[in-house]
Amino acid sequence: MGYRVRDLSTGEERPLCSLTPPGIPFRRFFFSPEALAFATEALARAARRAEVAVADEVGPLELAGGGFAPGLRTAVGAGRFLVLTVRPSLVDEVRRWVDLPTAPVVTVPALPTALRTLDGTRQLFDRAAAGYEPGEGNAGPLTGYPASLARAGELVRVGPGARLLDIGIGTGSFAAQVARSDTVVWGVDLSPGMLAQCREDHPGYHLREGHFLQLPVPDEAFDIVISSFAFHHLLPAEYERAFREILRALAPGGRFVLLDVLFASESDRQAARAALGDLWDDEEIYPLVPEVEAAARRAGAEGVGSQHVGELHWAVVGAKARCS
Ligand SMILES: C[S@@+](CC[C@H](N)C(=O)[O-])C[C@H]1O[C@@H](n2cnc3c(N)ncnc32)[C@H](O)[C@@H]1O
Repeated sequence: MGYRVRDLSTGEERPLCSLTPPGIPFRRFFFSPEALAFATEALARAARRAEVAVADEVGPLELAGGGFAPGLRTAVGAGRFLVLTVRPSLVDEVRRWVDLPTAPVVTVPALPTALRTLDGTRQLFDRAAAGYEPGEGNAGPLTGYPASLARAGELVRVGPGARLLDIGIGTGSFAAQVARSDTVVWGVDLSPGMLAQCREDHPGYHLREGHFLQLPVPDEAFDIVISSFAFHHLLPAEYERAFREILRALAPGGRFVLLDVLFASESDRQAARAALGDLWDDEEIYPLVPEVEAAARRAGAEGVGSQHVGELHWAVVGAKARCS
């Protein structure tokens, strides 16, 4: 995952930052010095010639004097008409920083669609696969991951010889947490890199590359379906289809436990977003518990409920009817 910088006057682009080195580290990104110089030059040129200069987006890096800061200073000094995109929590700080305390603000509502493509998600996890350990030093939405995984695991209750499917299995952490020695574990994941690591760590698992909405598994083959921190990669319009797939894979009477970054209400989601600031990932949509539960019920699940298992984490549970 990363961002590119584009000079709107020429259409020229450079890779600006990514989650992995090389580059200048700032928060969770590594910035390319070459791309920053390119952006500074583009802004300085706009300050000399353009009627309007646009910078998307101005954030903590600029407020610390880096990123687009030098180019913006030139554009402000030249009295150009400036359009800056700024996240809501930083508007006042940026206004003070550019010394335009009364600059008008237009609020744009959050986009209702995920911003990362399927390929983007696959590449993100392919790169992260080696040594993937979300519990280590994670201060973002996955904060408290090991404890949440353990609490959600208590809801799974695996019986003797159970057949278990983990969707978005990654390197196998949730399955390994709940499986007994006689559990038959299957896993599906979008990322070949994660699956390769999982295969190395858990040679006995049956692993398939595939998508949540089209699971490469037989009908009614599992007693339990679990998933941890993968559901939020779906769009809200896809939730019901995801549960239809889970119910197709479950044997009659089978149960599911789905753990993720979820919020009880929109105000809780916005409060967490404000609290996490730059650590919040705008390329992911963390669902609301009521909408996930409603989608499960519409798909035909029974006994749907949820449990708060960590600061930002909930487990949604339900079952497939014993006879259809
Ligand atoms: C945050 S990781 C969690 C991995 C593992 N469940 C865990 O708890 O450590 C999310 C995983 O979901 C997978 N994933 C994302 N979107 C998916 C999709 N649409 N279908 C299947 N897997 C997906 C990713 O490749 C990644 O391995």
